Amino acid sequence: MYSKEDAIKVLKENNQEHVLKFYDELSEENKTDFLKQIENINWPDFKLIGGNESAARGEFSVPPAVELSEIEKRHDEFQAVGLEAIKKGEVAAVLLAGGMGTRLGFDLPKGCFNVGETRELYIFQCLINNLMDVVKQAGCFVPLYIMTSEKNDRATRAFFEEHDNFGYNSEYIKYFIQDMACAVDYSGKLLLEEKGRLATSPNGNGGWYASMVKAGLDKDLKSKGVKWINIFAVDNVCQRIADPVFVGATIAGGFQAGSKVVRKVDPKEKMGLLCLEDGKPSIVEYYEMSDEMAEAKAEDGSLLYKYGVILNYLFSLEKLDEIVNNNMMVHIVEKKIPHIDDEGNQVSPEEPNGYKFELLVLDMVHMMDSNLAFEVDRVREFAPIKNLHGVDSVDSARELLKKNGVVL
Ligand code: UTP
Repeated sequence: MYSKEDAIKVLKENNQEHVLKFYDELSEENKTDFLKQIENINWPDFKLIGGNESAARGEFSVPPAVELSEIEKRHDEFQAVGLEAIKKGEVAAVLLAGGMGTRLGFDLPKGCFNVGETRELYIFQCLINNLMDVVKQAGCFVPLYIMTSEKNDRATRAFFEEHDNFGYNSEYIKYFIQDMACAVDYSGKLLLEEKGRLATSPNGNGGWYASMVKAGLDKDLKSKGVKWINIFAVDNVCQRIADPVFVGATIAGGFQAGSKVVRKVDPKEKMGLLCLEDGKPSIVEYYEMSDEMAEAKAEDGSLLYKYGVILNYLFSLEKLDEIVNNNMMVHIVEKKIPHIDDEGNQVSPEEPNGYKFELLVLDMVHMMDSNLAFEVDRVREFAPIKNLHGVDSVDSARELLKKNGVVL
């Protein structure tokens, strides 16, 4: 356990002594907690600030995929394989709900947002309703694990409880909390949330399995006989979860992982694209892509790289166990970070003011030996809510929900 002197030494070495400015004003208990926080800082991450993330990449090629037309033809075959796995208890779902949802600007966890117009219909409720379709079809509940963060865990659990889990059997719901990482301003200086507390935020969606293991839930998965985990984002209200057809296509094809994708039609569209990189599954962000690659055409005239990921993946548990201790790349992400200034006054920035350190699930996809791109219809399955209005918003999601026959 760090003493004050240890903290001074390490902070000095890293040019961060400013965080002790208010130290002498703190209670003894607060001092202990603060020193613990300082001891846990991952200093190597700081070297990444200002570095060029998009360093050398490998050779890209088109990934294996099943497109809508093929899925339609083989629907019953895929569905039968998927349903069998679900009935045997081999499929679990993990809801990634640890994010801060800053773009939406809503005080409660994002899933507590009401998208209803004439009735209450919360984001969490939409997701549970979608999962219930599979529960009804398979005749059994799918174990659901919900990842929260230190910041929203209590509110998330309370919301589910208050709403009777939206009809989901509580025995099949478990929560776990992801790790936090500290945040810095644009010059790499640590920010304080309070006088005796570093500003922290959830460490990205890539550490979800490591956090499950830390919470001991890997044992729970194994005792249930789970072999496949479907992870999904909190904000896509139309997505199918533990979709038997998706699960079945991945299993039947002998893949280690599957990714739901939507078809990119405009070369300039801002989406992460699933590719193969030196023969391994890989996601290339739109800003990393050369114009040549973005516009490359297949023989039939369609875009060559056209499978946009929607944060709905299926992973083999066996492979997850194999890679869980691998080092994941840390990404530097610009965010709005509430903090206190030199005088101890609260600052709530309107614009991004610094960096967070995040692990991203797309790096986990790259650790898989094989991955199937499974195309879904954009109108039926892709309604992400990032903002209140405009692109990927509450407004656009409401339109899509209505198109899918959901009464708002
Ligand atoms: P986003 O990239 O949209 O981030 O997350 P966010 O934090 O929720 O929203 P903004 O950027 O602050 O507006 C995509 C998915 O990953 C989850 C989110 O909850 C969402 O389901 N996520 C993100 C986590 O579970 N943990 C994180 O640390 C970050």
